[in-house]
Amino acid sequence: MRTTTIPGTNLNVSVICLGTGGMGSGIDRAASFEMLDAFVEQGGNFLDSAKVYADWLPIERSSSEKTLGRWMKARGNRDRIIVGTKGAHPDLSSMHIPRMSDEEIASDVNASLDHLQTDTIDLYWLHRDDPRRPAGEIIEALNAHIKAGKLRAIGCSNWRAERIEAAQSHAAAHGLQGFAGDQMLWSLAAVGPNGLADKTLVAMDAGLQAYHARTGLAAIPYSSQANGLFNKMAVGRLEQAQLPETYRTPENDKRLARIQSLAAETGLTITQIALAYLTSQPFVTIPIVGCRNMAQLADSLSGGDVTLTSDQMRFLTQ
Ligand SMILES: NC(=O)c1ccc[n+]([C@@H]2O[C@H](COP(=O)([O-])OP(=O)(O)OC[C@H]3O[C@@H](n4cnc5c(N)ncnc54)[C@H](OP(=O)(O)O)[C@@H]3O)[C@@H](O)[C@H]2O)c1
Repeated sequence: MRTTTIPGTNLNVSVICLGTGGMGSGIDRAASFEMLDAFVEQGGNFLDSAKVYADWLPIERSSSEKTLGRWMKARGNRDRIIVGTKGAHPDLSSMHIPRMSDEEIASDVNASLDHLQTDTIDLYWLHRDDPRRPAGEIIEALNAHIKAGKLRAIGCSNWRAERIEAAQSHAAAHGLQGFAGDQMLWSLAAVGPNGLADKTLVAMDAGLQAYHARTGLAAIPYSSQANGLFNKMAVGRLEQAQLPETYRTPENDKRLARIQSLAAETGLTITQIALAYLTSQPFVTIPIVGCRNMAQLADSLSGGDVTLTSDQMRFLTQ
């Protein structure tokens, strides 16, 4: 698989990042280790986790981070893996109350280091925003952890463009590290008129896309395969009325038809086209894929070496 360097950092990562939300929970420990080994064997080195995964289940807390920590320890490969993890997520019982104080960030950073059994986190994400806290203060808090050697680079997830801009301006004006990446919901699937059910999430939109194009900030999108939407539609598993509400729009029928036409012309698969649509953007874009089994992993990773032309990109969303 190709690699790329996240601009403004020395993090050289595989062009596909493996989401580990289900590791240690939906995917048991042995199957998680097997999937992580296969990812690395196929050239992957970039993992995405979060302290909150999968605390909605009645199992041990932070099962994803702890599984990654155990796997890296068992394989002795910490220095070859780029680990991204997230903190400052609201409590699951009060999603409307942000957790973004200096104390909450510090407590989450320390917990994640412990779970991952490491001294430093390669890319630390804020899982949500607190729009009422000045972005500059948040940047200051994160930079204190960078200075202490606990974090190498930082990113924001589910932030709006104007807040990212405020954070980056503060960092530039004060000689601090700004965000090296932005993690949002983004795929080739169009989001329907009702938007996302969870209003604390942020999807890529025209304004955010323009911000990335203008600044070159890396996009590292989640739900990058729209949970397999086009593959499921193509085999008749999902009719329009059964589409998840997030993606329920006739535009996705049109996109499927265009994907199928491009697939027939090029021999590429639906998965390869969906992921190459992201990796072929004019700014660095590294899709995070979620895979439930080894067949999905192999299929998703096959998208890692495909690039689309600008004509093909235009055709897909025309
Ligand atoms: N920052 C955030 O707020 C945030 C939010 C969500 C996720 N994330 C991160 O992003 C990761 C991935 O998110 P996601 O799971 O939503 O991504 P995704 O890759 O869009 O969806 C994964 C699902 O897509 C289906 N799938 C995967 N590969 C497939 C294939 N080759 N063919 C057909 N279907 C396929 C499977 O669905 P079935 O199980 O139905 O087969 C799988 O469970 C998470 O693990 C997490 O690390 C971050």
